[in-house]
Amino acid sequence: MIILAIETSCDETAVAVVQNGREVLSGEVFSQADMHALYGGVVPEIASRNHVAIIGKLTEHAVKNAGISKSDIDAIAVTYAPGLIGALLVGVNFAKGLALALDIPLIPVHHIRGHIAANYVAFPELEPPFLCMIVSGGSSLIADVQGYTDIRIVGRSRDDAAGECFDKAARVLGLCYPGGPALDKLAKSGDNSLFSLPRPMIDGHPYDMSFSGLKTAVVNIVHNAQQKGLELDKASLAASFSTAVSDILVPRVVMAAKELGHKKIAIAGGVAANSQIRADFRREAETHGFELYVPPLDLCGDNAKMIGCQGYYEYLAGARGAGMELNAFATMGVDGVR
Ligand code: KG4
Repeated sequence: MIILAIETSCDETAVAVVQNGREVLSGEVFSQADMHALYGGVVPEIASRNHVAIIGKLTEHAVKNAGISKSDIDAIAVTYAPGLIGALLVGVNFAKGLALALDIPLIPVHHIRGHIAANYVAFPELEPPFLCMIVSGGSSLIADVQGYTDIRIVGRSRDDAAGECFDKAARVLGLCYPGGPALDKLAKSGDNSLFSLPRPMIDGHPYDMSFSGLKTAVVNIVHNAQQKGLELDKASLAASFSTAVSDILVPRVVMAAKELGHKKIAIAGGVAANSQIRADFRREAETHGFELYVPPLDLCGDNAKMIGCQGYYEYLAGARGAGMELNAFATMGVDGVR
C-alpha cells in the first residue's frame, strides 16, 4: 500500500511517499527556519503562507523521487493536530484536494503519534509494546505504547515543553533560532557543573515534568550578569542547562519503563536530537538493561515519513474514511480528545 503523507504542523513543509508503513520511497522537507530566524521564533502567518507557496512543488518532487506516478498512490495521510492552526489547515486542505482528485482515502494522523512512528521507520524490527519519550517544541510526553494505535500518556510537562525551554535559553544566550541545535553545539565546550540549576519534581506525579523554573533560572543568570557587567561563561551555562534538562527527562523515563514493565525505550521529537540527552539515555539503558531506540537526527525533527508510517497503522486500525469535513485542531490529546 502506497501512502503519500503531508506534514505542515509548524515551520517545516514535508511530503513523503511510504510503502506498507515502513518502506520510505521518498521524503522531502522544506525548512522555513531561516525565514523565522529574523524574528527569533516561528511567526504563524509566515509559516502558513510558506506552506501554501511550497506544498504543491514539494509534492511533485516527492512523487517523482519515489519513482511512482500519482495514480500509484493508494491513500493520503495528513497531520491534522496538534500544531499551529493556520499551518495545519494548509496541509489538511491540500490533502483533501488530492484525495478528492485521486478518489482515494484520506487518513488523519496525530502529530505526536507520528513522532512515535519515526522509530518504526528507523528500526524495522521495532514493535509495540515500548515506552516512548516525545520531546519537541510543543510537547514533552512519556507514552506507554501498547499497540500502534493504543497509546497512553503517563507523564507530561505541566508547563513549557522541553524544546520551548531550549529555544528560550538559547535566545537569552544570544544564539539564533532554532536555538536547540545551537545551544547543543555551544554546550560541548562548557563545564556542566558550573551553574546550579533546578530539577523540579511534581508532588504525587513522579512521571510529570516542569521546565518553566529552569527557563526562568537561566534568564535570571544572564540578566544578572548583564546588569552587573560581568562576563558570563555561556558555554558552561549551556552545558549546565542541557544537563539539567536531561536530568529531568532521563531518570523519569527509566523509572516509568521499570514500573510499567517495559523492556524497550524509544525517544522521539526534535529535542531527542540533543547530544547530551542521547548520551545519557545510552548510558542509562546499558546500566539498566533496556533496549534503546534512538532515531537518526532527520527522523527526530518534523518530517512526513513518520506521518506516512503512522498513517498506515491508523488505516489498518480502521481510520480510512476521513471525508471532506475533516478539520484541523491546534490542541488534541493522542487519544483524540480535544
Ligand atoms: O519535533 P520538532 O522538529 O518540532 C515540533 O514538533 O515541535 O522540534 C523542534 C524543537 C525546537 O524547540 C528545537 O530547538 C529543538 O526541537 N531541537 C533541539 C535540538 N535540535 C532541535 N533541542 C536541543 N538539542 C538539539 N540538538
